[in-house]
Amino acid sequence: MIKEWLEKIEASSSLEVLENIRIEILGKKGVLTAQFAKMKDVPNEQKKAFAQNLNEQKTKVHEALENKKTLLMAIALNEQLKAEHIDVTKFNSTAKTAAFHPVLDTMDKITTYFQNLNFSVEEGPLVEDDFHNFEALNLPKYHPARDMQDTFYCKDGAVLRTHTSPVQIRTMMSVKPPIRMIAPGNVFRKDFDITHTPMFNQIEGLVVDAEDKISFANLKHVMVEFLQHMFGDVEVRFRPSFFPFTEPSAEVDISCIFCEGKGCRVCSHTGWLEVLGCGIVDENVFKAVGYKDVSGYAFGLGIERFAMLIHKIGDLRSLFDSDIRLLGQFR
Ligand code: DAH
Repeated sequence: MIKEWLEKIEASSSLEVLENIRIEILGKKGVLTAQFAKMKDVPNEQKKAFAQNLNEQKTKVHEALENKKTLLMAIALNEQLKAEHIDVTKFNSTAKTAAFHPVLDTMDKITTYFQNLNFSVEEGPLVEDDFHNFEALNLPKYHPARDMQDTFYCKDGAVLRTHTSPVQIRTMMSVKPPIRMIAPGNVFRKDFDITHTPMFNQIEGLVVDAEDKISFANLKHVMVEFLQHMFGDVEVRFRPSFFPFTEPSAEVDISCIFCEGKGCRVCSHTGWLEVLGCGIVDENVFKAVGYKDVSGYAFGLGIERFAMLIHKIGDLRSLFDSDIRLLGQFR
């Protein structure tokens, strides 16, 4: 019998067949298992030899099963590896190429535009102190205009910067005029709904030069050219506004790119879309950084807002979801 079993094991062609053979021999109702049950009928003096013989057979079957199993598993693994082999050098026409995130892409576009006008690109820390984020920008402590910014406060009076304007202050305090700079980067505000996220991106701009060299007309010209570069053939309108760090200040609108100024849901039926804030740098800001006899203009804008308008994205939050189906559209 044992010879026959071992041959059967040796001849088995798959793990499934092998398992069936194991059950046939060693299972609860297996042929060898049945032999063990016969033990009780064996005369006492033969019991030992009988049991020894059965155990030897059992060990042999076990060994044969294990050896065959190892072999069959190796063959199966080999076949699987062959089937799943990937030729990484092969050109795959279905592979998807990566794309810039629309926010990064828009930030790049704006940055490049101003670099071409000879603006430098400056950076500042994300965790700011009160002086750079507020005080030096003509926002003294307890000034009601601080409420415009939903500030995240850290320990020891530090804040997460609420705008990129503090980079103006840092730059003015580290170089001498003339200055022509932009500062792109993350800003943080305690706000979250379809048009606000707690982190977003701004670009700040600052130009400082001798008193007679800077006028509102310069600012207006640069903004109109910039906005028409970004949005195409749009109308640009300056509305008087208030920012603590500029005087006079303006908010700038473009004619609605969705309805061409006729009025639609996106522009709240006004025909205009607000896109940035700007103005002539307030004297108090120059005082805070120790500048005399200069004048300047500044501007600030939200990059996500630009990206949403350019790519016609409805919900700001979708820019932060990392949903590959959205991002895939910008390839
Ligand atoms: N810092 C302003 C904000 O976060 C944006 C801004 C407006 C910046 C006018 C400027 C400016 O430099 O002149 O809302």
